[in-house]
Parts: sequence; structure tokens; C-alpha cells
Amino acid sequence: MLSLTTSLPEARFRPKVPPPLREPMGLFAFLRAARANPITTWMEDHFTAPVVAGEGAMGRVTVVSDPDLIRYLFVENARNYRKDDLQRRVLAPGLGNGLLTAEGDEWRLQRRMLAPIFNVRTVDGFAPAMNAAGARIGRRLARRDGTRVDVALEMTRVTLDVLERTIFTYGLPSDPDALGRAITRFLEAVGPIDPLDVFGVPAFVPRIGRLRARPAIRFFAEVVDELIDRRRRLMEAGEAPRDLLTLLLAAQDPETGQGLTDLEVKANIVTFIAAGHETTANALTWALYCLSQDEAARARLEAEVDAADSGEAGFAPADLPFAKAVMEEAMRLFPPVPFMSRQAVRDDRIGRIKIPRGSLVMVAPYVLHRHRTLWEDPDAFAPERFLGTARQAIPRYAYLPFGAGPRVCIGQSFSLQEQVIALAHIVRNVRLSLPEDHAPVTPLHRVTLRPEHGLRMRVERRG
Ligand code: HEM
Repeated sequence: MLSLTTSLPEARFRPKVPPPLREPMGLFAFLRAARANPITTWMEDHFTAPVVAGEGAMGRVTVVSDPDLIRYLFVENARNYRKDDLQRRVLAPGLGNGLLTAEGDEWRLQRRMLAPIFNVRTVDGFAPAMNAAGARIGRRLARRDGTRVDVALEMTRVTLDVLERTIFTYGLPSDPDALGRAITRFLEAVGPIDPLDVFGVPAFVPRIGRLRARPAIRFFAEVVDELIDRRRRLMEAGEAPRDLLTLLLAAQDPETGQGLTDLEVKANIVTFIAAGHETTANALTWALYCLSQDEAARARLEAEVDAADSGEAGFAPADLPFAKAVMEEAMRLFPPVPFMSRQAVRDDRIGRIKIPRGSLVMVAPYVLHRHRTLWEDPDAFAPERFLGTARQAIPRYAYLPFGAGPRVCIGQSFSLQEQVIALAHIVRNVRLSLPEDHAPVTPLHRVTLRPEHGLRMRVERRG
């Protein structure tokens, strides 16, 4: 066993999660469970073995949880593994051909053009916008002193606010709320996964959800078209803000000088919003839940945040190492993307396991991050794992909330910076606690991992 942390404190908080299964389920029970809450289908073997291969409802599936074998899959032989049809069917209709769903040469070209938009320097430039959104949620929660708030909803508000500010700086002057409304309606309409998608009905069969989504998609597209037109004019006048929209419109392939088409710009705006808001919101939600159950971690975080300078420029993430560790630990226990899947292009071998062409290979951060052979006390909340030498001892491919290899999350630094800044503003303003009569807080896997019965916490104003 790898000893990743030398001494975790004794009495740690261990969030309640569905217990892994001892025996495999029958086909119908499996399908029912997979539809209701896929994380209830993991078995004990998955949390102890490096590779588990099985024949299931989706054909042959191999789950890989060994850091070296994951490196092989995601890096060394990444070319042999493409995003599978399942993901494309579920995501592509809402996201168009943005970076998340593009494949092959189209993906390579887009990735090359978009990489500079998310590099450390550019992301650093978004800190003021993130601080403005953080300060706003801090004030909003402080005003709710003495009441209960829906934390999951509030965190969605802050992440959408960050995206609005970093993509579209000024919004639409004619109707300041139009953009937020368009985004919310769009997400509500395309959000839920349609079970028909999962069970393989071809894309041309109309889906009720999709039909209903059309007006929302049209409204959103019109708002974005108007924003793009206005922005092009500002860019020509040399007056454009340096936000994601300007950067997308100005992006060029370093080799050919080619830019993105308007359609690709739009597809990527939708992609950033869809890929970046619920994931980050859920990370914050789980962090606030874990903090409410761990007195010592909460006190340490409050002390760090209170000592940090939040003057005119707002919080600087470099001053908040414990806040970052809290976020990383929350994403270890509750990874917002609980599994990733790939399809083998050609026959292959992963370690000693044969991978037939066309079969699915999965890496499940939810399993990997709680793997019995990789983590000490895997189910315990212990942000210390992510500090100092303990952090350095974590093998690179044992902790993958943002994936790895060429298709690693492009928004990783953006999201982490946003998480730390938002958490700091929240903790500076309020303390959130779980009322005793709250329903059990357990994870529900619906695209991302969210608390099954919501998370309504009591707000107490600080300072
Ligand atoms: C806690 C927050 C986030 C988590 C946990 C997360 C997780 C991930 C993961 C695991 C992947 C890889 C999927 C795979 O390999 O199959 C991914 C890809 C991606 N993410 Fe994120 N993400 C987060 C935030 C964001 C943000 C804020 C943005 C944009 C603003 C973003 C944009 C993308 C895009 C465009 C891709 C596709 C990259 C490619 O295929 O080249 N994500 N994300």
C-alpha cells in the first residue's frame, strides 16, 4: 500500500455514500440502478483491483484504476482511445462541435487555438471578475443571516456569474438580465440526460426533451449572435475587453493563422458554460458540506481567510493554500465528473488485460479517488492530503478530477482559481451549517455528482 499521508488526524469526517456492492446485480436491476444513480452500481472489486473487466449492459467494459495503466490509456496510447459514442450522443446535440465533443483533426485544431485562452497568465487576468462574483455571493449570503439557503442553487449562481463576467464582460446593455435568463433557460432545457440517449436510440429520433429545448436554444443563440456582433464592432474600434469572447474571436491557429468560425465560437461558448458551471458549483457545494461537518478544518480555513488580504484587488489564490486543499479534497471525495469513458479504436492490451476493438474503457475518478490501495483512510475528509510533502507524494495519475493527457480539462486552472476565490468570499462572510433535521446528504450521479436531497444549510453571518 502506498502511504500518501503520514498521519491523518484520528477523528475524521466520513461522508455517507452508497456502499459498494458485494455481488454483481442482474441485468434489469443494473439498468434500473444505472439510470437512477450510477454510483450505486460500483462493486467492492472496483475499489481494490487495478483493473476490472466485465461484460455488461453496454458490452465489454474495462475499468482501469492503476496510475501507470491510466497513464498508458490517457497519454502513451491516447491515440487508440476516442471519446465513445455514448458521450457524443449525450453531449453533442447541446454542445455542437465545441472542444468537448469534437474529435480527430477538428479537435486538434481547436485545442491548439484555445490553449492560450486558458493559460496561467490569462486565467490570472480573470481574478478580478472572479472576485467581483465572489464578493457578490458573499454579500448575498450575508443578507440571508438566520435563514436556510439552497447551497447547490447558490453555488450555481456564483459559477454562472463568473462565466457571464469572464465570457461577456458587459452583457447586453439593452437588457442586462437577458443573458442570464438565456443561459438558465438553455441549461434547464438541455440539462437532463435523456435515457433514450443512453440506450442507443439513433440521434434522428426526436426526443421530447430536445423538442422542448428548441425555443430555449434559439433564444440563447439569438442573444449570443447579438453579443458577437457588438463585440466585433468593439474589437474593430480597439475598445474590446480582454474576456473569453474577445479571445475566442481573436484566436488563431499558430501554424496557419486560421481563426474559428462563428459557429465554432458559439459552440465553444456553450461548451464553456455547460462544462464549467455545474462542475465547479458542485465542487463548492460538497466542500461547504464537508466543512460544516469538520470543526477543525472549518476553523483553520476561517483563520486563513480572515488573515488574507482581500483589499481592492480581492483575494489572491496564492494566499489561500488551505482553501485550495479543501477544494481538492472535496473533488477527491466527490469528483464532479465521476467517470470518463473511451472506446478502443484497435485491439489493445492494458497491462495483462485484452481490450477488444470497439469496447469501452473507463477511468472513474469516484473509484480511483477512494481506491483502497492508493489512499490512506480513503473515505475520510482530510484536506491535509493536499498540503506540502503529502501533496507531492500523490501519484499524478491517482488523482484525476480534471482528467489527464491530451483531453485534460482545458478549464482546470480557471476552475481552481474560481473555486478558491469564491470559497474565500463565502467563508469571510458567513458560516454555513447543516440543520439537524436535514435529509441525509448523499451523492446522486446525474452528469455530475450532486447531493441527492439537495443541501439546505443555515446561514450565520460572520464578522
Ligand atoms: C470543477 C470543475 C471542472 C471539472 C471537475 C472538470 C472536469 C473535466 C474533465 C474530467 C474533462 C475531461 C473529460 C474526458 O477526458 O473525457 C474535462 C474536459 C473539458 N473541460 Fe472541464 N471541468 C471543470 C471545469 C471546467 C471549466 C470551468 C471549463 C471552461 C471554462 C471547462 C471546459 C472543459 C472543456 C472545453 C473540456 C474538453 C477538453 C478537450 O476535450 O480538449 N471545464 N473537464
